[in-house]
Amino acid sequence: MGDLLAGRRKQSILVVEDNPVNAALMKELLSRRGYPTIAVQSAAAAEAEIRREPPDLILLDVIMPGKSGYELCRELKEDSKTRLIPIVLITGLSAREDRLKGIEAGADDFLTKPISAEELFARVSSLLKLKEFTDELETADSVLCTLGRSVEARDPYTEGHCERLARNAADLGRYIGVDDESIVALGRGGYLHDLGKIAVPDEILKKGSDLTPAEWEIMKQHPVTGETICRPLKSLRLVLPIIRYHHEHSDGSGYPDGLRAGEIPLLPRILQVADIYDALRTARPYKPALDHEQAAVTMCAEARSGLWDEDLVSEFFGMLDKRQQVA
Ligand SMILES: [Fe+2]
Repeated sequence: MGDLLAGRRKQSILVVEDNPVNAALMKELLSRRGYPTIAVQSAAAAEAEIRREPPDLILLDVIMPGKSGYELCRELKEDSKTRLIPIVLITGLSAREDRLKGIEAGADDFLTKPISAEELFARVSSLLKLKEFTDELETADSVLCTLGRSVEARDPYTEGHCERLARNAADLGRYIGVDDESIVALGRGGYLHDLGKIAVPDEILKKGSDLTPAEWEIMKQHPVTGETICRPLKSLRLVLPIIRYHHEHSDGSGYPDGLRAGEIPLLPRILQVADIYDALRTARPYKPALDHEQAAVTMCAEARSGLWDEDLVSEFFGMLDKRQQVA
C-alpha cells in the first residue's frame, strides 16, 4: 500500500483556540517540529478552514465564545466527510467532567492546560500515525471501488448501476434499522458486489444471456473471486458476505453455496433486493425495462415463489414509496 501513497503531502494541523497567546504558542511549537499548522480563534473560522482544506488533526479548545469545542467536535464526528479527522480536546485543570463530555462528543484524546510541549508532541505524533493508517485504508477502499466501477464500465447496459445500488441498499438498511457500520457496508457492497467479474472474459460478460454450461460455470465464480480480492482488507469485513452471497436464493437454488433462506446473512439479502429491482428497471439487449409497478409485481411473485426474502421485498417497496412521498 505504501506505493499507492508515494509522494504524500505533509500532514497538517488545525489549532482552534480563542486565546491568541495560547494559539500562537501551539502554532509556534508545532511549526518548529515541521508540522504545517494553522490557528483560528472560533468554531466558525474552524469550519471555514476545514471546508477549504481538511486538516489531518484538530486541537480544539472546549470553551470558546459562540459554538463550544464540544459542539464542534460532535458535529465533525457526525459528518461522514470529517469523522475520521482525529480531534484532541484541550480542557481545563478540573478535567474529569470535561473529559466525560468530550468522550460523549467523540473526541479522540485530551490535553490539559497548561499544555506541556512533550505531552503535545506525544499526542500529535501518535494520532497523526493513526490518521496515516486510516488514510491508507480509505485509499485501498477507494481503489477497490474504482475497480468495481471499471467492471461495470465493461458492460454498457449497466451504467450507473453501482451508484443506484449503493444508495438503495444503504437506504433499505437504514429503513429497517440496521446499525451504522452495516449501512456503510451496504453502500460499499453496491460498488464491490460484482468485483469478481474482473476475472470473467469480455465475450462471456457481454453475452448477458444464453451462456453455455461452461461459460455459466465461469460466470458463477464471480462472488468467490470478489470475496478473495477483498478479504485482506479488514475494513471490508462486513462487505465480504455481501459479495459472496449476493446470488443465493431463499429456496437454495442460487450460487455459489446453495444456501437457504435462514442461512443467507441479512446484508446480502438486503443488497440482493436492491440489485434485482435495478436489473428489472434497466433495459438489456434481451429484455425491455419494466416500470416501477411492473417491477414490484414481478419481485413480489418471485419472492413468493422462493427466490427472494418476501419481508425485505415488501420493506423495500415501502421505503421507495416513502421516499417518493418525501420528494
Ligand atoms: Fe453478481
